Amino acid sequence: MHSVVISLLNHKGGTAKTSSTVNIGAALAREGKTVLLVDLDVQANLTHWLCGDLSEGSLSIAEAVLDKSVKLGSVIRDTPTKNLFVAPAGETMVDLELKLHSAYGREFLLKRALSQVLSKFDYILLDNPPSIGLTTVNALVASDYFLVPVSAEYLPLIGVKKLLGTIEQIKPLNEKLRNLGYLLTMVDRREGIGGDVEKILRDTFKDEVLQTVVRINTKIKALPQQRKTVFDIEGSSGKSFADFENIKNELVKRVTDGA
Ligand SMILES: Nc1ncnc2c1ncn2[C@@H]1O[C@H](COP(=O)(O)OP(=O)(O)OP(=O)(O)O)[C@@H](O)[C@H]1O
Ligand SMILES: [Mg+2]
Repeated sequence: MHSVVISLLNHKGGTAKTSSTVNIGAALAREGKTVLLVDLDVQANLTHWLCGDLSEGSLSIAEAVLDKSVKLGSVIRDTPTKNLFVAPAGETMVDLELKLHSAYGREFLLKRALSQVLSKFDYILLDNPPSIGLTTVNALVASDYFLVPVSAEYLPLIGVKKLLGTIEQIKPLNEKLRNLGYLLTMVDRREGIGGDVEKILRDTFKDEVLQTVVRINTKIKALPQQRKTVFDIEGSSGKSFADFENIKNELVKRVTDGA
């Protein structure tokens, strides 16, 4: 086994990066894949969602990245979902970006940490902060693919093009990095939210935009406090269940076809 590593990123805040990471991860885990979610955000939303509050002094991804003596395996936690694991962000996450700047081999430290577990997971999903800094550069250097969640509530194109420019600059550090696609989130067709954005996105990026979109579902907002995924609260006829199952299928196909 050799993990497929995927970065979910968009430097814009609130585009559903974290909820996509959790629910795509859960969809993969449900079909028996072993999945590691890595929380790279100071906000630690993903960690709180799936692990609750970490006890003081707990080791987290920051230590595994910065301190060679801390093995990544020792910071990984299980979650209420079988086959789904988390490398959590802790209170030391605020130091990571700063300390990376003066670290030797600073763009490659997450890649080095992940290399310890590539034989243990089918998929590793990296949940990125809403900013581009050395942490995100580390994520892109360590990834096979990036996936860009785009919120239908905002006209996103200028931001997305800027993001692509930044990713281009990172390419020399990771030649194999590929675009897995754009995922349109928070779509509300009934209210007409997202129609224009969807059209512009599909006109611009064509087949790179996933066919499936994530529809608005207020139930998603309540999931973190319940430590649940959409698969725990909906049956197969639920809309978010269907959305994430279909998104997972599209992503697996793209990876298998060598997108
Ligand atoms: N399909 C959806 N329907 C309704 N609300 C949603 C949906 N997806 C995400 N949300 C809500 O939108 C907010 C932002 O989502 P999320 O935290 O996943 O975005 P993010 O891109 O990770 O944000 P940040 O940039 O702050 O890390 C959250 O309150 C989340 O519950
Ligand atoms: Mg987030």
